[in-house]
Amino acid sequence: MKAYELQQFGIDNLTLVEKEIPQPGFNEVLIKFHAFSLNYRDLMLVDGRYNPRAKFPVIPFSDGAGEVAAIGEGVSKWKVGDRVCPIFMQAWGEGGLTSEKSKTALGGGGDWDGVLREFGTFNEQGLVKVPEHLSFEEAATLPCAAVTAWNALAVSGRVKAGDTVLTQGTGGVSIFAIQFAKLFGARIIATSSSHEKLDKARELGARETVNYKAREDWDKAVLELTGKRGVDHVVEVGGTGTMARSVNAVRAGGHIAVIGVLTTSGDFNPISLLMKAVKMQGIFVGSRAMFEDMNKAVEVNKLKPVIDKVFAFGEVREALKYMESGSHFGKIVVRIGD
Ligand SMILES: NC(=O)c1ccc[n+]([C@@H]2O[C@H](COP(=O)([O-])OP(=O)(O)OC[C@H]3O[C@@H](n4cnc5c(N)ncnc54)[C@H](OP(=O)(O)O)[C@@H]3O)[C@@H](O)[C@H]2O)c1
Repeated sequence: MKAYELQQFGIDNLTLVEKEIPQPGFNEVLIKFHAFSLNYRDLMLVDGRYNPRAKFPVIPFSDGAGEVAAIGEGVSKWKVGDRVCPIFMQAWGEGGLTSEKSKTALGGGGDWDGVLREFGTFNEQGLVKVPEHLSFEEAATLPCAAVTAWNALAVSGRVKAGDTVLTQGTGGVSIFAIQFAKLFGARIIATSSSHEKLDKARELGARETVNYKAREDWDKAVLELTGKRGVDHVVEVGGTGTMARSVNAVRAGGHIAVIGVLTTSGDFNPISLLMKAVKMQGIFVGSRAMFEDMNKAVEVNKLKPVIDKVFAFGEVREALKYMESGSHFGKIVVRIGD
């Protein structure tokens, strides 16, 4: 089988290699992958920012979708032909996160290979069923970005109809956040650096939009839109460069889901955080139980992930460079086979 391996950091060092197709062991399932999706984490892993101590060679990427090609002894949950996605952290089935569970994240340069390969074996508990109405390409967008947005809004935020949700930028996590917030009946304020992308965000359900390049004080724009009250929830993907403005834009007692590190510059003074009694929750993707709950909502509402562009398996380097350019709206996908 073909697999991508990284022997040293750098997009151009990502190489296609030949490997033996693994055989499923006890309680394991062999997956034949049909599609993968990119997350910002994959770009960071490949260029050395995510895990400087990665154990080479690394098979990158956490998100894939495929079909069960064979089952090992003891498997009772799956049969050949079932359409599945591996979950992001293989040992996080349910309950809270522990450091042991977090070490089982796929494709992070640790002990667990990523999915960027034709076949892989996984414990039968480390998989979820693909929603019926989704193609493999659509399903491949779910394990990291969608589960993260779900955890931020449905689990940590418990968003209810009428709440106001602020999303930042129009990447994978934020677009899923817009889609879920719409599903929950929330008012959505979306930001982006591009007027064109903001038009698309409005088509998806954002009620108000702010261009954060045109208005560097986008937090003030958000306060103006909410009659100085602030939003109930912030989907914070910017990191240190956006955190202070996020705290400014949230209401007293509001909720910030701390997700991303897209920026590294900037200061953050916690005073307003405590004076406003803001609830800040770090989010690390989510469990299988969250993924399964989310898939119920995706299925009942026939929600379709927003795919910006699909690349061929031989074009993974181009796909990563496209993500690096920041031109995308929603998810970037890699297809394997015809
Ligand atoms: N904690 C977790 O479990 C978890 C899970 C998934 C992702 N993440 C993190 O969340 C972040 C987003 O990931 P992703 O995969 O969705 O990335 P992505 O698809 O590459 O999204 C990037 C987009 O973010 C926007 N952006 C960049 N700088 C910004 C800024 N200063 N303010 C507001 N928006 C900005 C841009 O949107 P516009 O072009 O519209 O301006 C850009 O296109 C990354 O830091 C990633 O590592 C964390």
